Amino acid sequence: METIFITGVLGQDGAYLARHALEKGHRVVGGVRSSSGANTWRLDELGVARDVELVDFELLEEPNIRAVLDAVKPDRCFNLAAQSLVGTSFRQPLLTADVDGMGVLRLLECLRMAGGQTRFYQASTSEMFGRAIETPQRETTPFYPRSPYGVAKVFGHFITRNYREAHGMHASAGILFNHESPLRGAEFVTRKVTLGLARLRRGTGGPLRLGSLDARRDWGHARDYVEGIWQMTEQPQGDEFVLATGHSSSVRDFVFAAALCLGFDPECRGEGDNETIVDRPSNTLLVSIDTSLRRPAEVETLVGDASLASERLGWRPTIGFGALVAEMAAADYQRAGHVPAAVS
Ligand code: NAP
Ligand code: GDD
Repeated sequence: METIFITGVLGQDGAYLARHALEKGHRVVGGVRSSSGANTWRLDELGVARDVELVDFELLEEPNIRAVLDAVKPDRCFNLAAQSLVGTSFRQPLLTADVDGMGVLRLLECLRMAGGQTRFYQASTSEMFGRAIETPQRETTPFYPRSPYGVAKVFGHFITRNYREAHGMHASAGILFNHESPLRGAEFVTRKVTLGLARLRRGTGGPLRLGSLDARRDWGHARDYVEGIWQMTEQPQGDEFVLATGHSSSVRDFVFAAALCLGFDPECRGEGDNETIVDRPSNTLLVSIDTSLRRPAEVETLVGDASLASERLGWRPTIGFGALVAEMAAADYQRAGHVPAAVS
């Protein structure tokens, strides 16, 4: 039995990864920010809240990181904690840089000072590719981040590589493309859509307002992705891997798929910023455009090539776009009927 320490354990990936590690028979300790109220709803939904030991953890506070590592003595440390909202990073760039960039260095340095024997995983992101130089994006594609979040994550990525090369640490970084689930935060577009349309279907909410319908993402399922993350830390040495499905869909495609799952018959009307999506039989407005929700700089299209992870880790995504949307829509339809807003 190993001791697995997961920062950001109350987030989407943290919850799935905690369950994965518990199923493998390990002790799981999760870092939580007491300042944010420690809402354990995701661990509760997965039925593992009682099995995860929670400790106060703050990536901005180096003495706290040192004390936690001293007490926990992890065999593996997964750094999933981040200010992970791309839009917010434009309004809070300094905080984002401190948590998502310097926070990685604080953690790595504390691990090094503690002996450097802990296997380390850094949650890097396809957002680092930004205005992508080539398609599909792979491990060797140059980065061109388009947000303070993306820039901070590039620092986290390279400092992870540096600690591997300079100090011989077992340090890996997963360049993960968007992955979603019923446990996704409601601020992200997929969950915003499934929760919003489910409430509309239940008659407990109004039409959705989205920044745009054109952006394309390579959307996979978080359950698949945490298996890839785990595999990276099982390798003889640390390395860097892209995890992606290889298929991209637009926000519009996602809205249509979710609307169909929820029994609507969606149709586009109008063009550009006047485009709407309407339920044809009832003439109900489902979605309109709100340009104030747009970001100062947008990432239009991302699609990844996970061949290296397939070859070296034996990793392949098992849940396709249709099944992902159906699972999210069904979960939000249930939630919208019972406890409105409890999980947003
Ligand atoms: P998430 O749901 O937003 O979870 C992030 C977690 O980090 C939250 O539990 C949050 O705590 C915690 N956190 C934020 N600031 C912190 C701080 N200063 N100190 C300690 N903890 C802090 O994110 P996710 O979707 O699970 O993603 C996990 C990681 O993968 C993130 O690093 C994200 O940037 C990266 N990533 C995600 C995707 C994706 O598509 N999901 C793709 C690529 C990379 P609170 O609960 O207290 O807010
Ligand atoms: N959130 C949001 N809300 N996004 C919208 C909206 C809206 O109303 N309307 C359009 N979008 C577009 C965004 O501009 C973006 O192009 C796309 O939908 C996806 O947005 P998000 O779901 O917020 O995710 P993201 O791609 O910006 O970032 C997520 O994936 C990254 C991996 O590429 C986050 O999980 C990041 O933490 C992660 O690194």
